[in-house]
Amino acid sequence: MDKVKVAIFASGNGSNAQAIMQAAHFGELNIQIEWVISDKPTAFVVERANKMNIPVWAYTHQSKGGRQLWEKEVCRLLQDSQVKYIFLAGYMKIIGKTLLECFPQKIMNIHPSLLPAFPGMHSIEKAYESGVKITGVTLHWIDQGVDTGPIIAQEAIMIQPEWSLEMLEQKIHEVEHRLYKQTIKQIIK
Ligand code: GRF
Repeated sequence: MDKVKVAIFASGNGSNAQAIMQAAHFGELNIQIEWVISDKPTAFVVERANKMNIPVWAYTHQSKGGRQLWEKEVCRLLQDSQVKYIFLAGYMKIIGKTLLECFPQKIMNIHPSLLPAFPGMHSIEKAYESGVKITGVTLHWIDQGVDTGPIIAQEAIMIQPEWSLEMLEQKIHEVEHRLYKQTIKQIIK
C-alpha cells in the first residue's frame, strides 16, 4: 500500500514530532513525512527534522508578510507535495481560514488535557493547580476555535497525590507520544 503523505507543524521542542518521525522511519506508521513546517526557524524541532533528513520549511509569519500569506504559501507547497493530513505537534499559532479551507477536516491537533477542560496555554499546570484528580491527552480535528473541533481520541491519566508538576508533565508526554501514533494509525487506515 502507498504511503500516506503528511506534514507536521511544530514551533518548539518537537518531542511529539520526533515520535512520529521515528515511527515513520521504522515503518511503524505507513506515512511519508513530506515536510516539517515551522513558524520558528530556531526551534529545536528543526534540528530534529534535519537529523532525520526530513525536509523543513521554517519561516516566521512576519518574514512572509503575515499569517495569511504564510498560510497561502504553505497551502500551495503542501498541495504540490500531495499532502493529505497535517499533524500539529506543539504548533503555537492559531491556524487561519486559509489553511482550514485548504485542508478541511484534515488538520489534527494534540492537546495536553481532557478537552473541553483546560484549553489554551499552560494546560498541564492549570489542571495540576486546579486540584482535579483526572486529566489526560486529547487528539482532535481543528476548526476556527482554540482547542475546539471534533474529538478523535482521548486518554485519561489519574493524578497521583504524590506527583509533582514535573512528574505529571512527564506522564502526559509519554501518553502523548503513544496516543498520537496510535491515532494516526487509525485515521490512515
Ligand atoms: C505538547 O504537550 C502538546 O500537547 C502541546 O504542545 C506540546 C508540544 O510538545 N500542543 P513537544 O514540542 O512535542 O515536545
